[in-house]
Amino acid sequence: MFPVIAIDGPAASGKSTVAQKIAAHLGITFVSSGELYRAVTWAALKADILPENGEKLDAFLRSAQISTQKLGDKVIFLIHGEGATQHLYDLEVNKNVSLFSQLPKFRAVLLEALRDLGNRFSLIMEGRDIGSVVFPATPYKFYLDASEKERERRRAAQGIADTITDRDQLDSTRKVAPLKIPPGACTLNTTEMSLDEVVRKVLEELKNKHFVIQHFTA
Ligand code: DC
Repeated sequence: MFPVIAIDGPAASGKSTVAQKIAAHLGITFVSSGELYRAVTWAALKADILPENGEKLDAFLRSAQISTQKLGDKVIFLIHGEGATQHLYDLEVNKNVSLFSQLPKFRAVLLEALRDLGNRFSLIMEGRDIGSVVFPATPYKFYLDASEKERERRRAAQGIADTITDRDQLDSTRKVAPLKIPPGACTLNTTEMSLDEVVRKVLEELKNKHFVIQHFTA
């Protein structure tokens, strides 16, 4: 098992941008767990399956083949060998991803794929339940937040039409692995912080916690 930095927080809280900067700085692998949730959602929709389609969804999940590819320092997810990069932020994916993500059977399949990455790389992984459920034993946990207004502003600046309020509501109230501050996490309200300030804070905290990178040497 390699060291894992876990970054959680609501939609558009800056997790992904911060995590990518830290990954580049430390020379470790970056994973957006949301991209996996989105890729599987896209593949299900493409197969005409909706969150409420019980048996069809069960069969889809049983046969779902999730594989990964490394693109620079980032992990890309493939479903049945097919990448979904162009479709991750499609409106239909935005509308359905939190509905699929509420289902324990859906999460179970994805959890396994995410945990497996911890056996392969030194990681920084961002999401909703990384410090609480995926890698609860890691000592390197962060929770980023920002006001709703600021998060909406950041999403709009990316040119992405998103449903962040609806997703946040579903993501934080679901029964399984809801979005919450993991015990022991360093929390940062980034509303009034610049990207560089947040990155500096995270690096400072990692240094205080004596974060050491391990690379695969076999
Ligand atoms: O990080 P993101 O906004 O791209 O994530 C998209 C959705 O995926 C999010 O609204 C809920 C789900 N998700 C999840 O349930 N658990 C995670 N660890 C990551 C994402």
